[in-house]
Amino acid sequence: MKRITSFEQYEKEYKQSVENPEAFWAEQAEQFTWHKKWDKVLEWNFDEPAIKWFSGGKLNITENCLDRHLEKRGDQIAIIAEPNDPNGKVRKISYKELHTEVCRFANVLKNNGAKKGDRICIYMPMVPELAIAVLACARIGAIHSVVFGGFSFKSLSDRIHDADCNIVITADGGFRGAKDISLKSTVDEALETCPSVKKVIVLKHSKIEVTMKDGRDVWWNEEIKNVSNNCPAEIMDAEDMLFILYTSGSTGKPKGVVHTTAGYMIFVDYTFRNVFQYNDGDVFWCTADVGWITGHSYLIYGPLLAGATTLMFEGIPTYPDAGRFWNVIDKHKVNIFYTAPTAIRSLEAMGLDFVKPYKLDSLRVLGSVGEPINEEAWNWYNENIGKKKCPIVDTYWQTETGGIMISALAGITKTKPGFATLPLPGIQPVLVDEKGNELQGNGVDGRLCFKFPWPGIIRTTYGDHKRCKETYFDIYKGYYFTGDGSRRDEDGYYRITGRVDDVIKVSGHLLGTAEIENAINEHPDIVESAVVGFPHDIKGWGIYAFVICDHQRTDTDSLKKEIIQTVTKFMGPIAKPDKIQIVKGLPKTRSGKIMRRILRKIAENDLANLGDTSTLLDPSVVDEIKEGVL
Ligand code: WT7
Repeated sequence: MKRITSFEQYEKEYKQSVENPEAFWAEQAEQFTWHKKWDKVLEWNFDEPAIKWFSGGKLNITENCLDRHLEKRGDQIAIIAEPNDPNGKVRKISYKELHTEVCRFANVLKNNGAKKGDRICIYMPMVPELAIAVLACARIGAIHSVVFGGFSFKSLSDRIHDADCNIVITADGGFRGAKDISLKSTVDEALETCPSVKKVIVLKHSKIEVTMKDGRDVWWNEEIKNVSNNCPAEIMDAEDMLFILYTSGSTGKPKGVVHTTAGYMIFVDYTFRNVFQYNDGDVFWCTADVGWITGHSYLIYGPLLAGATTLMFEGIPTYPDAGRFWNVIDKHKVNIFYTAPTAIRSLEAMGLDFVKPYKLDSLRVLGSVGEPINEEAWNWYNENIGKKKCPIVDTYWQTETGGIMISALAGITKTKPGFATLPLPGIQPVLVDEKGNELQGNGVDGRLCFKFPWPGIIRTTYGDHKRCKETYFDIYKGYYFTGDGSRRDEDGYYRITGRVDDVIKVSGHLLGTAEIENAINEHPDIVESAVVGFPHDIKGWGIYAFVICDHQRTDTDSLKKEIIQTVTKFMGPIAKPDKIQIVKGLPKTRSGKIMRRILRKIAENDLANLGDTSTLLDPSVVDEIKEGVL
């Protein structure tokens, strides 16, 4: 398969992609299996927004991930599954076997009433059946909505509700390090408020006891026994929905980001092959959970479209010790490794003794994703993992972009620590000032927007198109706005400086401050709360919560513990506050709006630069908060 092989070629391809985007993307689309070719490559306007790629085209993405490869690489391994237990059984699934398993499970879905267009929620551990479930939905034209297994019952039920799912696919439980995680019981709790769900399909994976509800719950392992190996792919329109994936926003309610079939497919395939410089036969390991977009695009769809071998790991980087990643790389001869800065920083903090026992000589390319990678972590990754021989691609993108937008091409683009570097062909970034004026030239700081559509762009937010318009397309007219600040340096290289809205990146996970506040406020003794981020050595950003509590509580230590338990219960452990400060009041304007700018400064311990506080309803609350800062 063709890919860019030199910087000159990148420059040429970039130029072509801007001068004639339709011809550029049509050429990328040619290699796929289509039941009917498209009528029109692109129709778009960013005001509605209304964006269509390859309209009139008919296809099924799973034929391109699976059937298309059977002849040439049917016996090649598609998925290597490394279990949580280092001595447990590794599973290797060939393209032929994966094709069969996907068809079989697609038939199970059909037997349980699934049809084209249904929304199916997937809440599973990181096992091959998760990938099989995703692909089986796509096979029959059902829209998958994967929810990260670390989310709690409330986050799960909100997402099931919003997408009006009729089926949930789950497992009895999973394994994460020394802990067993129950999943089915969380589903049961979530479904108490989700009457739309008619069937729950449960994979038997752990030894965790579950209760099965008669008429609703069935075992995957039973259902799979009596189905055919054959399931013709449903023929989909290019713009039919492929999946919904929820992401946090500035309001308390997560947004269901919608991606459609053909554009997403072409974009993840192109970016996968070019960014990572994938070679036939490479073993690719993306450590992200499939519950996030990185797992969708670069653990499942991208690698399978390219015919790669993709590794799926159920465990955690520190079990049985902090050498596990490096152990797995040697064990499976991983060639391309893709992880998050937060993982790199936490492993760096454990010391080099965990790295030394491993050769790591199969590695050729390293990737980073999800948050800015600081120079120190970049250097550590480069020296100790890549042995200064592996180019590092710092890939900038979002759930909404479907795939990588700004990144070096491994070994081709000259890298600079801390910089995502240059836009991929087809991607037209701009920086704007606060009023939306485009900043020209290099050496400028602004807000990062894109001014032209790419095939993987978000089409809508499920059930609420207005929200999509308001969040991404209304703020700066004519542009898609990312919510990130960025610098373009003297060489035209992009450095992402971080979020400019009310969401925070905690260990690479995007969390809405309002969502965390809602969870905290579930505690009966909390009157009000305000959450902001503060710089954190390992997590990138930590969570700082200012809470006003009912005056009767004086046992602050146990109150703080209860708050943490409440957040874990209603949102999940990833949203636990790192610091909780109990305050008497919050800095509010006369119209009642919390001035987060001031709280952010306090949380950062930048007490000398709080700025203007004169417009506050009661400026004295600031002094009280300053005194109690943690
Ligand atoms: C936000 C999107 C990228 C897919 C997984 C996360 C931040 C992402 C980088 C990077 C600096 C980055 C941005 C972005 N981000 N990659 N390489 N350098 N920041 O997807 O959860 O939708 O988060 O992650 O702030 O807007 P997501």
